[in-house]
Amino acid sequence: MLIDEINRRRTFAIISHPDAGKTTLTEKLLLFGGAIHVAGAVKSNKIRKTATSDWMEIEKQRGISVATSVMGFDYGDYKVNILDTPGHQDFAEDTYRTLTAVDSVIIVIDSAKGVETQTRKLMEVCRMRKTPVIVFINKLDREGKDPFDLLDEVEAELQIKVRPLSWPIDMGQSFKGVYNIFEKKLDLYTPSKQTVTESVEFKDIHHPELEKYVSQTNADKLRTDIELIEGVYPEFETADYLKGELAPVFFGSALNNFGVKELLDCFVKIAPTPRPIQAEERLVHPEEEAFSGFVFKIHANMDPNHRSCIAFVKICSGKFERNVPYKHVRFNKMLKFSAPTAFMAQKKSVVDEAFPGDIIGLPDTGNFKIGDSLTSGEDLHFKGLPSFSPEMFKYIENADPMKAKQMNKGIDQLMDEGVAQLFVNQFNNRKIIGTVGQLQFEVIQYRLLHEYGAQCRWEPLNLYKACWIESDHPEELENFKKRKYQFMAKDKEGRDVFLADSSYVLQMAQNDFKNIRFHFTSEF
Ligand code: G4P
Repeated sequence: MLIDEINRRRTFAIISHPDAGKTTLTEKLLLFGGAIHVAGAVKSNKIRKTATSDWMEIEKQRGISVATSVMGFDYGDYKVNILDTPGHQDFAEDTYRTLTAVDSVIIVIDSAKGVETQTRKLMEVCRMRKTPVIVFINKLDREGKDPFDLLDEVEAELQIKVRPLSWPIDMGQSFKGVYNIFEKKLDLYTPSKQTVTESVEFKDIHHPELEKYVSQTNADKLRTDIELIEGVYPEFETADYLKGELAPVFFGSALNNFGVKELLDCFVKIAPTPRPIQAEERLVHPEEEAFSGFVFKIHANMDPNHRSCIAFVKICSGKFERNVPYKHVRFNKMLKFSAPTAFMAQKKSVVDEAFPGDIIGLPDTGNFKIGDSLTSGEDLHFKGLPSFSPEMFKYIENADPMKAKQMNKGIDQLMDEGVAQLFVNQFNNRKIIGTVGQLQFEVIQYRLLHEYGAQCRWEPLNLYKACWIESDHPEELENFKKRKYQFMAKDKEGRDVFLADSSYVLQMAQNDFKNIRFHFTSEF
């Protein structure tokens, strides 16, 4: 039954600042799911955080990352889908898009470092979408910040209410374990990478038995801490978590496999099943009979001789079936897929059917771009795949006049894949590429050459922000565009974009043109 398949699915992403332990946690979750059998099997699409980027390394990793883009496994009655997000911040845009395809998120925080920049940014996206989040505070085997301070920090920095569902007993060298508030158990810590936590049922921590397991000092402290928690934090309500208003918090050590199973057990119980998704036309419910889905990621193939890609489709409603024709809405054309793949146990294999919450990979030769929808026939356009104002800008120039056609085609297709954003300056007609980081310029240059035989040259351009503008006052908008004609551009969809060269200029513009709205994402 469709409804049973939907109800057992949990599709989520793990997000963190680099080095907090995302890869380690992912790996331990896969171990529990039986998807891998030894630690160290997931190197993920981790691009090492070296100052100078090693491009060949990235190429190699791109190959690996197809396999680890989606990791599905069965856990008890549940089907868990973990969507991987690139660790390197230059690919943040990729991560934002992946977040549109998940129903919930686990945030990993390093107990010594607390909330870091990347976490803060990603949380903004979750907040915007009201994505339910669970926080895992990692590396308790090391000296870290005081747990109450960490909770305050999470609450203040991530702007979400928190509720601890486990509580650490000491930390670092003398870390003893956690009291599992969610399941009323005492989880005792033994440092080891492979063993599972030893758990003792413990309904009442005031019971003198507690001293059998931990020292008097630890027991006293735990009792006071728990009393304080019960006094200060509201009861945990799953509904508040599902609304994205309250984040349950767990403590543990991913490296030592401690607290991970508890996290997973709670996660499958409380995490949302595939949620309804907003299309421009209407809200689409997963249990609808008719199939629908959208492309949230395109992965280019490694083989430069065949420009083939994999389009990742998130299934929103109904059942997807192999070899059944579906409507490519932008093309208004029916297409059939003979080799859709699913990602189980790190292996890619052809599937005959897939359900809401699942991600399938469709081999593609340039039919798809990000945001495209596939349906049983209805015209649906899914919302929520915004572009964010890039942080870096450069003019892109053709360095080989004989290859102008290849160059234009290359730029077009790379932009459809979502590698970066293209703006065309309306004043001089020059093409501007906007990215989140330097690495993307290298990616574009390399791929233009190797996949399209085109050579590009970058020219510096000093811009602060690109913002999408709109107004209910057409005259004022026209006036603005006239006044700022040198700084007006169009994005790929032909929308008006203002290129502000400093924060001062932007502020002035906002002050002088009160009836114009300046947006920092393309969806408003
Ligand atoms: P990331 O994907 O979020 O970037 O982090 P990753 O899992 O790679 O973890 C970053 C580093 O932190 C790794 O060490 C990892 O072993 C370590 N780590 C993860 N969880 C824990 C934990 O619970 N306790 C402690 N003490 N360390 C933890 P590394 O030396 O950078 O890499 P590696 O050589 O171990 O792979």
